[in-house]
Amino acid sequence: MNDPIATPGGKLVLVEFDDGIAWVSLNRPDKRNAMNPALNAEMLGVLDALETDERCGLVVVTGAGDAYSAGMDLKEFFRESDRLAPEAWLQISRVAQTWQIDRLRHYPKPTIAMVNGWCFGGAFNSVVSCDLAIAAEEAVFGLSEVNWGIIPAGNVLKSVASVMSARDGLYYTLTGETFDGSRAAEMKLVNIAVPHAILREHTRALARTLLSKNRAAVRAAKHAFRRVGAMSWDDSDDYLAAKLDQLRLTDPEGGRNEGMRQFLDDKTYRPGLGGYQRDKSGSSGA
Ligand code: ACO
Repeated sequence: MNDPIATPGGKLVLVEFDDGIAWVSLNRPDKRNAMNPALNAEMLGVLDALETDERCGLVVVTGAGDAYSAGMDLKEFFRESDRLAPEAWLQISRVAQTWQIDRLRHYPKPTIAMVNGWCFGGAFNSVVSCDLAIAAEEAVFGLSEVNWGIIPAGNVLKSVASVMSARDGLYYTLTGETFDGSRAAEMKLVNIAVPHAILREHTRALARTLLSKNRAAVRAAKHAFRRVGAMSWDDSDDYLAAKLDQLRLTDPEGGRNEGMRQFLDDKTYRPGLGGYQRDKSGSSGA
């Protein structure tokens, strides 16, 4: 792996490049990766930088040490903000939500949350906002806000409600009980849970699968998925038709025609069972 890229501050978020994957780790292990304002600002800078960094084809968000993230920093994000002017608080809060929600939900490259350990409150935002999420079976999740007398604001409840059922979401919101990675997978908060010992290996394999696909098609599909949920059937139909046309015009490797050619003429693969051979179309491998 290469050295971490230079990032503003550079200590609170680590980036490692590994064969097209950017492993992005929240890096305050002694504080269980609790998110303070400085970490949030650095994370926003890192996501901005990786967007156009050619070493990065896909982002994995995870945590250093034994935590994914213990949520927002109660001391630096909350208590020390009590004395700030409303405008300053709004700014701090906006930076957090911008990287956790706005940037990740609409990131131009695929994203995977790899939940390696403790995951509380505000940490749910990035897990839900990433395209896919994998947890260690042993990871511990909790909507602990109620345990210290607040509600899951910062749009955490919106994240929860977007992937969990009302029954499960309300249960854990109101009780503040913890649950493990296996239960998170059962409730579809994450796609899958695997033993911690193979978490990274499993995540890398999934990342390599995504990286093997047509990049433009993956980007268009993930953006479209986010958009169509709020549209009427007619609006969605029209939007997707336009998105498909846009993809045909802008896909640098002309995937649609190449995919049909390799199936119909060369008979070298079956689209139902896997992707076309991208090397033959002059696409990059990373
Ligand atoms: N904010 C600020 N500091 C934190 C946070 C946090 N969210 N989580 C952990 N820390 C700090 C602790 O204060 C402690 O600091 P210290 O060494 O200076 O005393 C250090 O991290 C280690 O924490 P421990 O509690 O000793 O670690 P342990 O492994 O025993 O427990 C656990 C881990 C369960 C995650 C525990 O730290 C905890 O409950 N943290 C708070 C979780 C939480 O409720 N987060 C807020 C969610 S709500 C929201 O995000 C809006």
